[in-house]
Amino acid sequence: MNMNEKQRLEGQQVATANSSDKKSAKDYSKYFEQVITAPSLKDAKKRGKEEVKYHNDFAIPEEFRGMGEGRKFYIRTYGCQMNEHDTEVMAGIFLALGYEPTDNTEDANVILLNTCAIRENAENKVFGELGHLKALKLEKPDLLLGVCGCMSQEESVVNKILKTYHHVDMIFGTHNIHRLPNILNEAYMSKEMVVEVWSKEGDVIENLPKVRRGKIKAWVNIMYGCDKFCTYCIVPYTRGKERSRRPEEIIQEVRHLAAQGYQEVTLLGQNVNAYGKDLEGLNYGLGDLMDELRKIDIPRIRFTTSHPRDFDDRLIEVLAKGGNLMDHIHLPVQSGSTDVLKIMARKYTREQYLELVRKIKAAIPNVALTTDIIVGYPNETDEQFEETMSLYREVGYELAYTFIYSPREGTPAAKMEDNVPLEVKKERLQRLNNLVNELSLEAMKKHVGQTVDVLIEGESKNNPDVLAGYTTRNKLVNVIAPKSAIGKIIKVKITDAKTWSLNGEMVEELEPVEVK
Ligand code: SAH
Ligand code: SF4
Ligand code: F3S
Repeated sequence: MNMNEKQRLEGQQVATANSSDKKSAKDYSKYFEQVITAPSLKDAKKRGKEEVKYHNDFAIPEEFRGMGEGRKFYIRTYGCQMNEHDTEVMAGIFLALGYEPTDNTEDANVILLNTCAIRENAENKVFGELGHLKALKLEKPDLLLGVCGCMSQEESVVNKILKTYHHVDMIFGTHNIHRLPNILNEAYMSKEMVVEVWSKEGDVIENLPKVRRGKIKAWVNIMYGCDKFCTYCIVPYTRGKERSRRPEEIIQEVRHLAAQGYQEVTLLGQNVNAYGKDLEGLNYGLGDLMDELRKIDIPRIRFTTSHPRDFDDRLIEVLAKGGNLMDHIHLPVQSGSTDVLKIMARKYTREQYLELVRKIKAAIPNVALTTDIIVGYPNETDEQFEETMSLYREVGYELAYTFIYSPREGTPAAKMEDNVPLEVKKERLQRLNNLVNELSLEAMKKHVGQTVDVLIEGESKNNPDVLAGYTTRNKLVNVIAPKSAIGKIIKVKITDAKTWSLNGEMVEELEPVEVK
């Protein structure tokens, strides 16, 4: 790297551990002084002073154009929709560089693992995969292997890769995606491990290329980062501070997707209900944004993930207008115990959550509510767990993602003593999952006999003669229908319910939904 580039990077707090000592087991900590540090709540909470900068000037540097001629890339994605969407952006950059995509690691010249740090088992999967890829790398020394995504933002992970996984060529962070051309170039030139992880809070870069995976459903980021600092969670440290895209950029993107024939858009953010809070000089929230978006001629709009704390009346009022705003809300509760919620720093009580649910159900009577729950939080008592079970029934969730608490280094919860044995946590998870299944089947059964709109996405996973798609309430439906129904919303009469899916018969093809 030339000197100017290096200074520029250093000015932005960059660690480029472009080490020729790669093979020796050295102390790499020098690369990370004031650079990436272990997650620190104290440091992270100082965020917010630095103004978010909006950029619209991304371009593939002249000297890198054609870098990918005759080369293929493969990206494996772990974690949430945010990561899936980042993969679409990186794929866009690869194509702009002249690379071709491949579905096969053996054909690839570049392999990226876009990683997730949310729980220990998510990280273990990535380390396992890195182990497997070593053989391929030995066979094909020219292969470039990269690690990006949320794990790259953790100092301990970067250290572990530097020390143990010498066959990795590049590590870059969630704020460095737009630097992919430079990072690839550096990796080709140096053939040594290139590490570029910005710990800065992150800007908003608007005009990055994207290759969307599907032609029917699309993701649209509305905000990045998270400032909620739930005590168990690594995301605020891996994704930086909350920063919203400007409404006009989002509206333009959704309009463009509608014009391209997309049938569904999911608005993305770790905490979409905080949308707009950081927009200088604008009093504009998610409700206002949805009110604009619902006028766009696209049949379906969803959003994820909602934090109960910022779910305001304006949003409920707008969602109640229906139309292309879907009657499904994912509203993670995490625990039914006010005491546990307090230690989690969720900033709402059981009662406040139930009151929010009451308001939502009153405004949107047919709403499907789903949630995320953590069991076995440090020192969670049987009684506290029972409160989660009773809340689950009381709300009548139709589905939940359930997790055993996993300590994340650097988060406040990881420092807590924990007197709950793993066996107890596993039993609690099992009991909760039984309840989740029971209520899921119950909710599914209510659909039998109804005629519902299903957006057909393609062939069913298990049977190519059957097509599969989702209802407005986000229920998976299998239906026998002509292949021409793929990409369309059709009317389906539900004949049969299982715990996770419905079966039905096509009634007639729908005209595109009219949006007011
Ligand atoms: N921003 C979203 C959650 C994103 S992470 C929200 O607040 O709703 C997705 C889910 O992973 C969380 O809702 C939580 O249930 C779970 N999770 C996060 N950190 C975890 C941890 N340390 N251990 C176990 N589960 C965790
Ligand atoms: Fe993590 Fe979600 Fe809490 Fe943010 S709001 S800290 S992403 S659980
Ligand atoms: Fe995982 Fe990062 Fe998403 S930690 S859940 S990939 S924001």
